[in-house]
Amino acid sequence: MLSHKKILVIGSNGQIGTVLIKTLCEKYGYENVIGSDLKHPDKQIKFIFELCSVLDKDKLEQIIDKYKITDVYLLAAYLSAKGEKNINQAWDLNINGLLNILNFAKEEKIKKIFWPSSIAVFGPTTPKNDVKQYDKTEPVTIYGVSKLAGEALCNYYYNKFDIDVRSIRYPGIIGWKSMPGGGTTDYAVDIFHEAIKKSKYSCFLSENRILPMMYMDDAINATISIMDSPSEKIKIRTSYNLSSLSFSPKQIESEIKKHIENFEVKYEPDERDNLAAGWPQSINDDYARKDWGWKPNYNLSHMVSDIILNLNKKYSKKKV
Ligand code: SER
Repeated sequence: MLSHKKILVIGSNGQIGTVLIKTLCEKYGYENVIGSDLKHPDKQIKFIFELCSVLDKDKLEQIIDKYKITDVYLLAAYLSAKGEKNINQAWDLNINGLLNILNFAKEEKIKKIFWPSSIAVFGPTTPKNDVKQYDKTEPVTIYGVSKLAGEALCNYYYNKFDIDVRSIRYPGIIGWKSMPGGGTTDYAVDIFHEAIKKSKYSCFLSENRILPMMYMDDAINATISIMDSPSEKIKIRTSYNLSSLSFSPKQIESEIKKHIENFEVKYEPDERDNLAAGWPQSINDDYARKDWGWKPNYNLSHMVSDIILNLNKKYSKKKV
């Protein structure tokens, strides 16, 4: 496939990376997309893969030179729950990893960067609902703190060195193709697997803890769409608010029960519920819609039906 892009996905084994790299390969050709992560992928893969940490500048430079990389999607990160247990490592990976990539762009080795921020940049002083782009950001997790600092770094490199870096504030991302790790919104993926396998689930958030969420297909769409938009449309160079769904564990439980009647959920909130308590319940994404035409495709019932259909297929295949 003819493509002027050579893409590097850092964190290609992760929850979003696994799905993003496949979509990018299908769009730009398997010869034009390279995945990298700390470990070899568990499953058989068709794409080119390089073992590398985003903190290893020399190895990264070798990879960028070897494949003449133009675009980097930097997904490697410590998320909220894991970050609280590893403060220094979370800061190091989330900030110094980003800085490495921004500096490669400054040295004109790469042209364009995607780096996700998160709803975790908001905190208890932010309004709970319809949170606007410029509402208060006073995060209470090291994850949120590092994402907020990262946003400022991206904006600084854009203004000072004209670096084409683009970012969205991901809400909790829910998909069936890959598993999340170390996040507070992970329950909304785990719940489906347990519903299908055991018809019961023990939830680590309280039943009415509403959080902003998004189906994986919409998140991948948004990610590729912001990267494919003409540069002049990307007016915000910190990170765009992005919104799709908001629901509580109880609401997703009821939606799953429409498909699995005997499904039971026990609520046993742990420390992750306190992290979630500091986050907004719903987000206003007017700027993303206006500037680069973002629009989600999935609502709650559509998402739940799609996940259950696909996971049923996946688990019944495993049984035969
Ligand atoms: N999914 C993230 C987390 O739970 C929030 O953006 O840490």
